Amino acid sequence: MGVEGFQKVTVVGSGLMGHGIGQVFAQGGYTVVLNDLDDERLQRAVDGIRRNLNLFVEGALLTPADAANTLARISTEADLARAVHDADLVVEATFEDLESKRAVLGRIGSLCPERTLLASNTSGLSVNAMAPATGRPDRFVVAHFWNPPHLIPLVEVVRGEQTAESTITRVVDVLRSIGKAPVVVQKDVLGFVGNRLQYALFREALGLVQNGVCTAEDIDTVVKMSFGRRLTTAGPLETADINGTDLFYSISQYLFPDLDNSSQPHAFFKELIAQGRTGVKVGRGFREWPGDRAERIRQARDRELIRWLKVDRESSAE
Ligand SMILES: NC(=O)c1ccc[n+]([C@@H]2O[C@H](COP(=O)([O-])OP(=O)(O)OC[C@H]3O[C@@H](n4cnc5c(N)ncnc54)[C@H](O)[C@@H]3O)[C@@H](O)[C@H]2O)c1
Repeated sequence: MGVEGFQKVTVVGSGLMGHGIGQVFAQGGYTVVLNDLDDERLQRAVDGIRRNLNLFVEGALLTPADAANTLARISTEADLARAVHDADLVVEATFEDLESKRAVLGRIGSLCPERTLLASNTSGLSVNAMAPATGRPDRFVVAHFWNPPHLIPLVEVVRGEQTAESTITRVVDVLRSIGKAPVVVQKDVLGFVGNRLQYALFREALGLVQNGVCTAEDIDTVVKMSFGRRLTTAGPLETADINGTDLFYSISQYLFPDLDNSSQPHAFFKELIAQGRTGVKVGRGFREWPGDRAERIRQARDRELIRWLKVDRESSAE
């Protein structure tokens, strides 16, 4: 467990993503410092980690002693200079805004030791646009954790034009050491890999609903009750191999020309936004969200993700 020369990870920005990222590094045995704008936010982050760890204990993924040890490895520090002064890796998880990220990364770069590696958890900003601000573009990557970061294994590690090979190797090794499944994205493309795939599906879903082929509810049923189930064990290209690439090739020949290729969000989607149907937060989006339905789905999702983490753990022990 652990990677030689790596002991301390600082997470700058301890909101929705940052607190979960800090948790996974602490679970993996690293000393973690959480940084945020004030102590109140840092307290909320620690409370969130405590709740997450309780879920892990309930799901038999951690013993109560492991959960206590994880918490003991986490400290908070609102002063950025003190938070990063001896970090081996700093993960930036602040607001998704290029200028403010550049400013934060610049300050981190000027305050942490020469050897420190920096990673931004941006959802989609360009690694090359951020890199110069760090003052150490050779030791900078995007490390895109997926939400919720304590439950989803994938981390996309995006290589910048100036990222050193040794940085990629170190970051990948550290992520593997905490049980994550890193994938190196070799080029600075919008949306990285995962969101490009997700949004290709989303675009087709919108096209199908707009054309009256099925309802929004039907889209979710089709995905959850068919290939969504398979995808957790066999990815789309594995599935093509299993079913025969020749079959996929002949379907691609007639289907590709018919698939949605809209370059702007669809009219009915624009209309939905204009009507203020922005989703669970207002009780209406593509669908209605009465009562606690969203919370029940979130809890069911988290239980399922915990079950998958157990499956991963059992198969890696085999
Ligand atoms: N929410 C998601 O599903 C998701 C998924 C993957 C990646 N991301 C990315 O992760 C990053 C964080 O997103 P989030 O959803 O956790 O946002 P969030 O608003 O929940 O958290 C951001 C945190 O950063 C803190 N912060 C802002 N400026 C700071 C500064 N100068 N110094 C220290 N702390 C500062 C804020 O106080 C806040 O606690 C964004 O870049 C986002 O795009 C989000």
